[in-house]
Amino acid sequence: MSFTVQPQPPARPNRCQLFGPGSRPELFEKMAKSAADVINLDLEDSVAPDDKVEARKNVIQAINDVDWGRKTLSVRINGLDTPYWVRDVVDLMEQTNGRLDLIMIPKAGNAKDVYTVDAVVSAIEIEKRRDKRLGFEVIIETAAGLAHVEEIAASSPRMQAMSIGPADYAAFMGMQTTAIGGTQSNYYMLEDKREDGGERAKHYADPWHYPTVAIVAACRTHGLLPVDGPFGDFSDPDGFRAQALRSATLGMVGKWAIHPSQIELANEVFTPSEEAVSRARRVLEAMEEAKKSGAGAVALDGKLIDLASIRQAEVIVKQAEMIAAG
Ligand code: COA
Ligand code: MG
Repeated sequence: MSFTVQPQPPARPNRCQLFGPGSRPELFEKMAKSAADVINLDLEDSVAPDDKVEARKNVIQAINDVDWGRKTLSVRINGLDTPYWVRDVVDLMEQTNGRLDLIMIPKAGNAKDVYTVDAVVSAIEIEKRRDKRLGFEVIIETAAGLAHVEEIAASSPRMQAMSIGPADYAAFMGMQTTAIGGTQSNYYMLEDKREDGGERAKHYADPWHYPTVAIVAACRTHGLLPVDGPFGDFSDPDGFRAQALRSATLGMVGKWAIHPSQIELANEVFTPSEEAVSRARRVLEAMEEAKKSGAGAVALDGKLIDLASIRQAEVIVKQAEMIAAG
């Protein structure tokens, strides 16, 4: 182990973040009643420029009036290159009742972006004598965001989570795709030429692998929750599940939903299965026995387990316990 201990991320469930445009207030009650752990009311890219002011008012009213239960409540503000973001932050803080948990900063490009919002938020919190500290989450969805992902993760004690934003990421990286996440049909390896001259199989690779791993590493280093972003084709549950399974396998803790049909899918993938939890508990028990007999490595069901297996098993058990408690 490094002498620098890896900090723990916030202990709250974050399996699904449900988004809804601030310009569609009829959705807010439905969002509050949904099974999503986190609600993201959007002021940014799902709101047309002419609707920005109205959407801000809607969102402020909803924060105050809707019963959000125990959900983590977040608002995605506009980007720091727009004329809207300052008023978003100031109005949200001055005109809401303290229920808001997080501000999501889109297109974070470097630590200074987060620092700038932190300065505004901190000034208002002090002025208003607010006890509750507003948290931050960011989207990594630009080339600069990816290049500076670690400094962004370390940018403020308010930071709680980081999401990958595949659509903007693709645009800012100059990728040739218009789909929002998922399999990219032009991103494949072709099987070697076959002796029989037959058709060669395509093997699809994952274009989101690198930024996903970069985000997970930055988050785990600095005690944040890494989250998979949107999957645009809400008529393709199998595609959603495949994308979610990949990001869960790589260490992410949850995924966005942009339609209610995606909430259960995300909750299912990011809740450790009973089978996985009981296997993890058996690993822990076996290692407990091993410790008593002085062994560091033993066999369980014909497979090696050792001290690292304890840490792997603890990830699953802790996640399951935290979700059950939440
Ligand atoms: N949250 C809660 N409920 C939602 C919802 C959401 N984001 N989106 C749709 N619903 C509701 C609808 O109101 C409808 O409810 P009803 O059965 O009571 O009438 C039901 O779910 C089915 O909706 P559907 O008709 O299939 O969708 P739609 O055509 O109304 O909207 C979208 C489709 C994609 C435009 C809409 O889901 C949406 O705006 N999603 C969020 C987009 C967003 O926030 N993007 C920013 C992040 S990428
Ligand atoms: Mg975006």
